[in-house]
Amino acid sequence: PSSGEARGDEVTGPVVRPRRLRTTPALRRMVAETSLEARQLVLPLFVREGLEEPRPISSMPGVVQHSRSSLRAAVAEAAELGLGGVMLFGIPEAKDAEGSGALDPDGILNVAIGDAVAEVGDAVTVMSDLCLDEFTDHGHCGVLTPDGRVDNDATLAVYAEMARVQAAAGVHMVGPSGMMDGQVAVIRAALDTSGYQDVSILAYSAKYASAFYGPFREAVDSSLQGDRRTYQQDSANAVEGVREALLDIDQGADIVMVKPALAYLDVLRRVRDAVSVPVAAYNISGEYSMVEAAAARGWIDREAAILETLGSIRRAGADVILTYWAAEAARLLRG
Ligand code: PBG
Repeated sequence: PSSGEARGDEVTGPVVRPRRLRTTPALRRMVAETSLEARQLVLPLFVREGLEEPRPISSMPGVVQHSRSSLRAAVAEAAELGLGGVMLFGIPEAKDAEGSGALDPDGILNVAIGDAVAEVGDAVTVMSDLCLDEFTDHGHCGVLTPDGRVDNDATLAVYAEMARVQAAAGVHMVGPSGMMDGQVAVIRAALDTSGYQDVSILAYSAKYASAFYGPFREAVDSSLQGDRRTYQQDSANAVEGVREALLDIDQGADIVMVKPALAYLDVLRRVRDAVSVPVAAYNISGEYSMVEAAAARGWIDREAAILETLGSIRRAGADVILTYWAAEAARLLRG
């Protein structure tokens, strides 16, 4: 019999026993289908203009808004740990309707890019958020029409300039996260016509309007009223997530991303199966804070939950994971 039946007089019980390969840690390690490595992890970092000391973000225990000097130290540590990259977000002192701080070469995000590259060269990939929401007083990812809607095509022109300014500051990879139609094509053209053919694009392709971004709004002092449902995707849609990824690849995206991660692991798997570029996933602020909050109450084992969470995102198909636990996970994996 092939399974489940007793054979002969003495041997009883199932013939096929999947548990055999779970007997020892060494066996489990040998047959593990997925792995988690520091090089696959990207650490998002916040840097705030005018800070002397890092400032804690209360809804993200363990995560801070960096000063310029503490940012340099964090980037150096990321390199030392062998992380894949850092993703920089800037918080300006003053915001306006156009998000003009994003285009200022002396604006916080652009000087932070320069600081990061000066610190680590190309030992770790320096990435930057290419979006206006941290810089606009209304908190939207683009500029607005006179009647208050997000103006897709006017925003594209700003993104093109933002890409040039970030590239001039030395960034290795830009991360357009604003979900404007056509943004990757415009950014690719702006980079190529300005001599930055080697600056790559990590496209936030399948980015969903999500309640789990809550803590990020505190992290970047967002003044957003309302929501982003006219440009970020509806969480009901998975086929559309694949479409967005394919469109971005056609426009020149080097890496496509699914975001958030945990509530969208099915989208991540579909995208991984549909494309032939690396796929990233963003384990976002609310996903981080849920685990931290439960662990702080003693309800779950924090370190085990971190590794299981990141492992699940890898298993669903992510080649690269953006996670606030990147440095800590790298230390855990070192043992
Ligand atoms: C937009 C952007 C957001 C995040 C990353 N880039 C916020 C949003 O789209 O509302 C969220 C990341 C997180 O929640 O950890 N610049």
